[in-house]
Amino acid sequence: MSAQQVINFTRGVPATESFPLEEMMAASQRAIEKYGTTILQYGKSYGFVPLREWLAEWQGVTVEQVLTANGSLQVIEFLSYHFLQPGDVVFTELPSYDRTLTLLHRHKAKIVGIPLEPDGPNIEALEAALSQHTPKFFYTIPDFQNPAGATCSPEKRQKLVDLADKHGFWLLEDAPYRPLRYQGEEQPSLFNLNPERTLHMLSFSKLVGPGPRIGMLYGPADLLQKVAKIAEDTYITPSLLSQGIVYEFCRAGHLPGQIEKLKALYGPRLQACLAALDKHLPEAPATRPDGGFFLSVTLPEGITTAQVMAQAKNHNLNLASGQAFFPDGGGERFLRLPYCALTPTEIDEGISRLATVVQEVQ
Ligand SMILES: Cc1ncc(COP(=O)(O)O)c(C=O)c1O
Repeated sequence: MSAQQVINFTRGVPATESFPLEEMMAASQRAIEKYGTTILQYGKSYGFVPLREWLAEWQGVTVEQVLTANGSLQVIEFLSYHFLQPGDVVFTELPSYDRTLTLLHRHKAKIVGIPLEPDGPNIEALEAALSQHTPKFFYTIPDFQNPAGATCSPEKRQKLVDLADKHGFWLLEDAPYRPLRYQGEEQPSLFNLNPERTLHMLSFSKLVGPGPRIGMLYGPADLLQKVAKIAEDTYITPSLLSQGIVYEFCRAGHLPGQIEKLKALYGPRLQACLAALDKHLPEAPATRPDGGFFLSVTLPEGITTAQVMAQAKNHNLNLASGQAFFPDGGGERFLRLPYCALTPTEIDEGISRLATVVQEVQ
């Protein structure tokens, strides 16, 4: 690989070679043939009924417990609109997904960050925060967290749902990476453990592609009715055309095979990233996830991500600032590494360049 070739460890985008082009072409043709007059029309704000039925069966709930929207970020926006008045307290992990933080700021929420450890939120910090506030909700990404790559342990999951019951707050469980486990055992979702207190979000963005813009919300039917009204007032109907196409893709039985294909593509990329960090940058502790799109590194003391980012440009290496994931500052040495859209060779070269940069700024 030439040193001129630019390597981007910036955004958590899927690899373009992961997109199921043939299956989606065929699904598009069938969807328009079969449901054209429905999916080219306005419909219910809950989304395309056959897709909702399929999604309900997938997760073992009733169709009234499933709402779809134009991406799961849109679901988070609707839930924020539903739950929040200016000044209301919400908890998030610290660090957390920057786009959600932006939405929460837009709703003028008071965000309390609960420090995230490699096995999930720090429970003592959570209990201390709960002695001060009862949040409207705790936004959490228990599986292969964005940005840290942490996964919540079974013990902490149980603790979270118990605390939600005890204190009466909602858990917003954002789980777009949950189906992408490359090794190890699946943990119960918070929704499995306590469906009364959990609003569970999934997305097709990391499974089929972000283009169709389909996110889903699983939760109690009465709350979903309220979200459906907000959705209707926002866009009348989500994109039924893309929902019809993705439904046909799922109905034809392609999703399990597609998920296996993704695991076979991304699992070795995760291993390549871990191996490259062990080889080139052993002095920087990294999270060691079993799936998802990200891992994160804490740069050696005395070095900031901002310094490394600036110097990395000279080596054709693009990195992203960690600061946006920390709502109240902090994260000066935090570096997120999204590895899925890079080949193992690019990953090794990228981490090697990163190690050189760390040496240079030391
Ligand atoms: C944790 C998390 N939630 C939500 C999203 C947005 O997903 P969607 O494309 O379904 O809006 C992302 C995308 O990166 C994400 O990482």
